[in-house]
Amino acid sequence: MTKCILATGGAGYIGSHVVTELLDAGYRVVILDNFENSDPDVVRRIKRITGRNVSLVTGDVRDRGTVERVLRMYNVDAVIHLAGKKAVGESVADPMLYFGDNLNGAISLLTAMKGAGVSRLVFSSSATVYGIPKTLPVTESARVSVTNPYGRTKLIIEEMIDDLIASDPTFAAISLRYFNPVGAHETALIGENPRGIPNNLFPFVAQTAAGERDRVQVFGGDYDTPDGTGMRDYIHVVDLAKGHVAAIRRMMSENETGQHRRINLGTGTGYTVLQVIEAFSKACGFPIPYAIVPRRAGDAAASVADPSYAKQCLGWRATFGLDRMCQDQWAFNSRVQAAEKMPPSRTRPNGKMAEYSPLPQPPLVAPDRLHH
Ligand code: WQD
Repeated sequence: MTKCILATGGAGYIGSHVVTELLDAGYRVVILDNFENSDPDVVRRIKRITGRNVSLVTGDVRDRGTVERVLRMYNVDAVIHLAGKKAVGESVADPMLYFGDNLNGAISLLTAMKGAGVSRLVFSSSATVYGIPKTLPVTESARVSVTNPYGRTKLIIEEMIDDLIASDPTFAAISLRYFNPVGAHETALIGENPRGIPNNLFPFVAQTAAGERDRVQVFGGDYDTPDGTGMRDYIHVVDLAKGHVAAIRRMMSENETGQHRRINLGTGTGYTVLQVIEAFSKACGFPIPYAIVPRRAGDAAASVADPSYAKQCLGWRATFGLDRMCQDQWAFNSRVQAAEKMPPSRTRPNGKMAEYSPLPQPPLVAPDRLHH
């Protein structure tokens, strides 16, 4: 029987790429998403990319009854937990929002998994748990030291998983610590299009290239890095997604019972802000305006992963370089911009309304209409 994976937050930026790679790898997939920070049309685009169906439940991971019903109804074998808030700055401004959303979501999911007898979990964690790294590259045994409420929720959830496994050794989990996910699917049908002013570098550079922002503000030019600007380990979101498939494959094939592994997902190569801007200029074909301004509070000078444990444990490593990350991000932003400019024309040249025929949609099974 084909294994079934529940992807909470599966319509989001990371989630949509993870679901696409799971489907391409032959898994059955159910998405649970409340569309608070994602677009329902992404589900249609995932089907268009993969040619496969994906089940969708519109609901909230914090609703334990819904989660348990979904786990049982779809006979879920493992869960990839991606649903949650992820903006560092927002978490500093409103920590209780982050504790409420991210921690309650994890408590609800883990409780529902226990109730439904689903014992395999891949958790979307973050390199933010390392805070400002003391030594580089960062290994999984590096000291954790959270510097913001968002990172604290990731660390607390990892530790919740530890305690759950200590109480119930039939459970197993892999927490994937993402470095800096960027880029988009090669079809440009899915990618990151944040609402409002982007916090992160890549979407901001892309929107500046698209003419939606005047210039990139480079936060700090006096760090101890090759050109004085901040260095990060950018990883193509498709490489990141394939890392999730490798983690699921490991959980399904090996006797992981009682294990909770933390695994870095990064490339092992760092790039500075100015190198990103230069690579993006090459991808879009014209220079991108920027200005060097004072540092952003809380930023590390450099953060680069040691990816060797992911290779050893999952047989996975990143394959895409910075140029491909920029090319795919630019292609995605260009498609979105073109689509936004396109009037929603459903009229044929003869002026008659076109019959709007969306892809065949599976029934959107809202939680209250789930049937046992
Ligand atoms: C990258 C570099 C900035 C914006 C955060 C979260 C992390 C993860 C990824 C969720 C830094 C510089 C940025 C800009 C700039 N998110 N920069 N101008 O801070 O490394 O990580 O996003 O999991 O948890 O902490 O990513 O893209 O914000 O910054 O100069 O407008 O770009 O100083 O050196 P960061 P980022």
